[in-house]
Amino acid sequence: ETKMVSVKELVESNCRSVPSNYISLISPEDSILYETENVPTIDFSQLTSSNPIERSKAIQQLGDACRDWGFFMLINHCVPETLREKVLRATQSFFDLSEEEKKEYAGEKVLDPIRYGTSFNVMVDKALFWRDYLKCHVHPHLHVPSKPHGFSETVDEYIRKSRELVGELLKGICESLGLEENYIHKRLNIELGTQLLIANFYPPCPKPELTMGLPAHTDHGLLTLLLQNQLGGLQIQHKGKWIPVNPLPNSFLVNTGDHLEILTNGKYKSVLHRAVVNTKATRISIATAHGAPLEIIVGPAPEFIGDDNPEAYRAIKYGDYIQFQQSHELDRRSCLDHIR
Ligand code: SIN
Ligand code: FE2
Repeated sequence: ETKMVSVKELVESNCRSVPSNYISLISPEDSILYETENVPTIDFSQLTSSNPIERSKAIQQLGDACRDWGFFMLINHCVPETLREKVLRATQSFFDLSEEEKKEYAGEKVLDPIRYGTSFNVMVDKALFWRDYLKCHVHPHLHVPSKPHGFSETVDEYIRKSRELVGELLKGICESLGLEENYIHKRLNIELGTQLLIANFYPPCPKPELTMGLPAHTDHGLLTLLLQNQLGGLQIQHKGKWIPVNPLPNSFLVNTGDHLEILTNGKYKSVLHRAVVNTKATRISIATAHGAPLEIIVGPAPEFIGDDNPEAYRAIKYGDYIQFQQSHELDRRSCLDHIR
């Protein structure tokens, strides 16, 4: 058994270069960044407004964002800034535990309820990535490390708020698709749905252009809500071009995942994205991924299938899909390619 070295340890040992096993270069065509376009902004207060005109306008914008971008910035969202800061601080204090303490949570299998680790999946990664992580299954059962003090309480408070927010977004998404607002909730039993918390920790890197925080991938669930400190580093693919996303203060970045693409038979797209690192400071991002219960089989919904729109994806159990994605190298394309 080889000893797992976290990126945090590596950086704290005063490593001044990128070790060769972390080197993964982006191809020249994928290195060009286009900064002229910005992801759309959705105002959550308008989405839940009692003014029907304001609300229907926001629903339309939400639908356009899901169809044309697969990503949007969410503002005026009712998760208090104090709670966002608290969960970022709690995350920092989890990664500040000793390696010995953190390794109690290492886990072995990709679907273990709590997993602390580094890179993406060290069993399959060809090169290592400049990232340490903590993944917890937080719903329908709450699994969170009991250390450090106060961590589980803060996470619990945060994931409830984020689940509430995503529940509202899913209703808006249903309406934007011309469906009854509880369509997804009922069809996929969202009350007992899967919620994962993925805390990403990207220490400063001496030569960021030589490595990746997280290579290009799409997310497996319905929606992902991303909270990040103000360092930026996420890049998304839009019309074949890579666009850096700079977070607005107090905003969430939301993206549609593979299961929304499957359910809508391709109408709403799950978009490739990646995370790069920087020389200056540690970037922290906290994703909550929301999907169906693990045992539910998801395929394209009948509303999206017709003579002109044959089923584009095979139905698959959500748990099997996650298992598959997490057991294979992130190969810079969507895992959806395996079920087309
Ligand atoms: C993710 O894609 O899961 C997170 C990427 C990020 O750190 O922004
Ligand atoms: Fe992602």
